[in-house]
Amino acid sequence: MPAFKELVFSGVQPTGNLHLGNYLGAIKRFVAMQAQFDCLYCVVDLHAITVWQDPAELTRQIREVTAAFLAAGIDPARSVVFNQSQVPQHAELAWIFNCVARLGWLNRMTQFKEKAGKDRENASVGLYDYPVLMAADILAYRATHVPVGEDQKQHLELTRDIAQKFNNDFAGAIAEQGHGEAFFPITEPLIGGPAARVMSLRDGTKKMSKSDPSDYSRINLTDDSDAIAQKVRKAKTDAEPLPSEIAGLEKRPEADNLVGIFAALSDATREDVLRDYGGAQFSAFKGALVDLAVAKLGPIGAEMQRLVADPGHIDAVLADGAARAEAIAAPNIAAVKDIVGFVRRR
Ligand code: TYM
Repeated sequence: MPAFKELVFSGVQPTGNLHLGNYLGAIKRFVAMQAQFDCLYCVVDLHAITVWQDPAELTRQIREVTAAFLAAGIDPARSVVFNQSQVPQHAELAWIFNCVARLGWLNRMTQFKEKAGKDRENASVGLYDYPVLMAADILAYRATHVPVGEDQKQHLELTRDIAQKFNNDFAGAIAEQGHGEAFFPITEPLIGGPAARVMSLRDGTKKMSKSDPSDYSRINLTDDSDAIAQKVRKAKTDAEPLPSEIAGLEKRPEADNLVGIFAALSDATREDVLRDYGGAQFSAFKGALVDLAVAKLGPIGAEMQRLVADPGHIDAVLADGAARAEAIAAPNIAAVKDIVGFVRRR
């Protein structure tokens, strides 16, 4: 595999409230990656409409996710922050990838099965095709690294399969046109840390999610300190004190989840947290977790509120990001068209 320039891409959907899982599994890690990589962070509005969105609410949510990126510490001068629909190359490449990806591959996607539920015949074609658009998001930039939560693992495997098949199917043209052995990198998923899968506060076996009907299942980035405190105090636990060793968290999903959240919020490991709190009762541990969560999330929520009050500024950030994103994607997609054999305007 030839060397590709290291580039980070990731995306967040503008649907429903952003929660602690989105923050710890993704956005907080996006911020950290800026020190080491060139990064593109995308508000994936084309993905959002795979299920019905009220138009005015969608507009509001696109700006809110952008505000969350900025409030969390993504620097739009350094990283490219934009919304997907402003860069036409995403949809264009998705079509070409529709003709590379196989039905059998998409039939295996568990997220579609979960989201479509029993009423599969009534799901949008876009929902089924969702992971192909994701591959196009990443590969339009030939991104090499993608930080995500664990729930996106299967989608990133599909991205790798699509890249591989494109590279194989068009190997001759790729080499002839001077791109060497492969046009697309085989993207590395970056899934890890103590919060790769943050679980519901009401049920440690279920993922924390935007769509859970109970607001007590999640901490939203826009929650105030009272709401954060209430939700942590009401979080489900078991009757035992915290263990001192990791092994003691086995079969205790709620304890494991709270320890993981504490670790991620404090940039520590589960081991570090158990060293400090092993033997503690949940009442004491939850008190410390409330203080920590309020200290870390409070300023982000306040800054988000300040930013969304100025939509003109947010829209300017998105427009600037879209222009910079397109400048990277356009030559890549032009090369893809040549590789496939299309005739294009020059
Ligand atoms: P989305 O909008 O559902 O979630 C955004 C990010 O948050 C992570 N996440 C979690 N991490 C830990 N624990 C949780 N409970 C939790 N819930 C969500 C997700 O893994 C994700 O990283 N398909 C993507 C958006 C997307 C994308 C892309 C991502 C579109 N194109 C290209 C990467 C690259 C999604 O729906 O994320």
